[in-house]
Amino acid sequence: MTKSVFPEGFLWGGAVAANQLEGAWLEDGKAPNITDVCVGINTKEPGLVWNDETGKWEMKLDPEKVYLSHEGIDFYHRYKEDLALMAGMGFNCFRTSIAWGRIYPNGDEEEPNEAGLKFYDDLFDEMLRLGMEPCITLSHYETPLHLMTEYGGWVSKKMITFWNRYITTVFNRYKGKVKYWLTFNEVNNMYRRPTISAGMLSVKPYDKTNPLVMSQEEIWQGYCNICVANAYTVKIAHEIDPACKVGCMLSSSAVATYPYTCDPEDVMGALNLQRMTNFYFGDPFCLGIIPGYVKRVWREMDFTPDLSEEEEKMIKDYPVEFFSFSYYRSGTFSKDTANAFDTGGIKGKPNPYLKGTSPEPWCWPIDPVGIRYTLNVLYDRYHLPLFIVENGIGLDEAPDAEGRIKDDFRVEYTRDHIKQVREAILDGVEVMGYLYWGPIDVVSAGTGEMKKRYGFVYVDRHNDGTGTLERSKKDSYEWYKKVCESNGEDLD
Ligand code: BG6
Repeated sequence: MTKSVFPEGFLWGGAVAANQLEGAWLEDGKAPNITDVCVGINTKEPGLVWNDETGKWEMKLDPEKVYLSHEGIDFYHRYKEDLALMAGMGFNCFRTSIAWGRIYPNGDEEEPNEAGLKFYDDLFDEMLRLGMEPCITLSHYETPLHLMTEYGGWVSKKMITFWNRYITTVFNRYKGKVKYWLTFNEVNNMYRRPTISAGMLSVKPYDKTNPLVMSQEEIWQGYCNICVANAYTVKIAHEIDPACKVGCMLSSSAVATYPYTCDPEDVMGALNLQRMTNFYFGDPFCLGIIPGYVKRVWREMDFTPDLSEEEEKMIKDYPVEFFSFSYYRSGTFSKDTANAFDTGGIKGKPNPYLKGTSPEPWCWPIDPVGIRYTLNVLYDRYHLPLFIVENGIGLDEAPDAEGRIKDDFRVEYTRDHIKQVREAILDGVEVMGYLYWGPIDVVSAGTGEMKKRYGFVYVDRHNDGTGTLERSKKDSYEWYKKVCESNGEDLD
């Protein structure tokens, strides 16, 4: 048996997001958010059309598409059963998000929606009753649609006011219940998907046929507004509840971008890629600075953002207290290859040194050492406690004739990664916890499908929307239970 080096109180558990599992998309007063009009955040065709009469974008769902997220896995009604399954694995922490649109349906109301507040009260109480610390994301691709169509979402500075109202409400309401707050899930994916990852939309579009098209000026203004809002989050959280902790949440697979060769162009290119996919948000969030390499981009495009000295000071004065992140895979940078991306991260030239990839059609490279590398790079740079809040593998699975799901591949992936987390702790990195992504099958963020399953618990729901929604344990369930209950000592 491996000797545990995981500190006492290490947070073991799993992570999900409201928009991928709650369903009940219009129930109890909730209004649509941006992911509700998308089948997967990688979609090229979100359900938005330009209305010439109103001069605004508006929702238009495609009757040919199945929007699985509208029903999700019906967690909204079945959360007690699901949390019991999570607690059964010995979780001491569970991460989910608050759907902003349940609290302020349109986002710009003066008064919150009591039914939405009550739902999360009950949910957090149930987690605590079962011994799981809630770790709560304030925004996980869930910007209320109205804020986007009316104001352009984060492109507009007005968002800071709406955001502050929302977070003040939830900090007051859940004070003493929620200790770990995460600000914007993977907002650093703004560089490739500003609309959905960062909640931005052009209200004066130059291309009215495509809501995904935005100018660089709009995107960078949105970036500044989000950095300011992030700082306000830290400030307001502590004014209301000095005992809670606020962290950022960044997609960090691309931190493990290796130069494909030792050609200095590849090495510098890999560094620039790390910066412009990750650190460009990590530096303002953790160090309180807008980095020089971002200001260089602004200079070269002759752009001056609307960012006052007071706002820059806010960013400086209120950095986050921990850094949480997702890691799924590594990538490579070669000056000869154009970079392509999907939810997992960058796709450079295939790395011949890796063992393999996840199965087709996703083919995400498997690189456990990459998580140790990422932990070390982030710790060396920010000297903040690190929290792994997403890691896992998506597989296409179905029960066999006996109703069993033998997911050894998942066990192997997870074990190999946890071993490398252990190595990082031995390297001196301060790691707060490990939350597996999607411990129960949920709708995929990237593709909007059910077929890509991450869970230790299977959910009978399929891409065409059929299924009983019944839950059952996969083989990996008992294995992960051992891991959590032994504080990472028993990985066999
Ligand atoms: C992260 C997201 O990008 O990766 C999650 O924060 C998402 O919401 C996860 O589900 C895995 O991606 P996918 O596309 O396989 O669901």
